[in-house]
Amino acid sequence: MKAASVEFVKSAMGPEHYPQEPLPEVAFAGRSNVGKSSLINTLLKQKNLARTSSTPGRTQTINFFKVNRNIFFVDLPGYGFANVPVEVRKRWRPMVEEFLKGDKRLRLVVLIIDVRRDPNPDDAILLEWFRQYALPFMVVMTKVDKVSRGEAAQRRHELRSFFNAADDDIIPFSAVTGEGRETIWRRIQGAIFTDPIK
Ligand code: GTP
Ligand code: MG
Repeated sequence: MKAASVEFVKSAMGPEHYPQEPLPEVAFAGRSNVGKSSLINTLLKQKNLARTSSTPGRTQTINFFKVNRNIFFVDLPGYGFANVPVEVRKRWRPMVEEFLKGDKRLRLVVLIIDVRRDPNPDDAILLEWFRQYALPFMVVMTKVDKVSRGEAAQRRHELRSFFNAADDDIIPFSAVTGEGRETIWRRIQGAIFTDPIK
């Protein structure tokens, strides 16, 4: 799928700031600097819509982008980076949990994991919320251009057992080569255009 239109709508810290328009949503979560914004930009074929940076912790609010006038992409703030000020880190947990648990329009959460890193305790917190709030999720294993095929396959296997997921739920991706882009779009479209089983 080619994104025909995309616009930045809003930055929110809490429900009072979420957009009112009742569109289905796909949220993107992951630790700081994992490549969330790069994934969103690659999916939307935008150069720098969701701002990318080499300064970890750049995205600290919940950012809503309207895609093709019929979906919201939601860029959640990153977590787990030590250099981020303590107040910012403390804010992350209630801000993200509130979004995940209260949001009836959320159809899919895309959790992004760097192929070179072990999942960390913050990733485990997200997994717990996915289960607790019965949220459909998939895992994107990003930056696969940085490792060999064998290393990527090994990590996929590990992530599969960490998340207790099927192989199809762990998608290898690279913002550099575009690998995985079509597969992720197919999953997103499947989640948006079929009624979720709750
Ligand atoms: P925060 O918003 O700061 O938490 O970061 P983020 O998760 O949005 O990450 P961002 O997209 O800004 O990317 C962080 C760094 O990783 C940047 O230097 C990107 O160029 C780089 N990067 C992201 N995706 C890939 C990828 O697939 N391959 C490679 N080689 N580098 C990537
Ligand atoms: Mg970002």
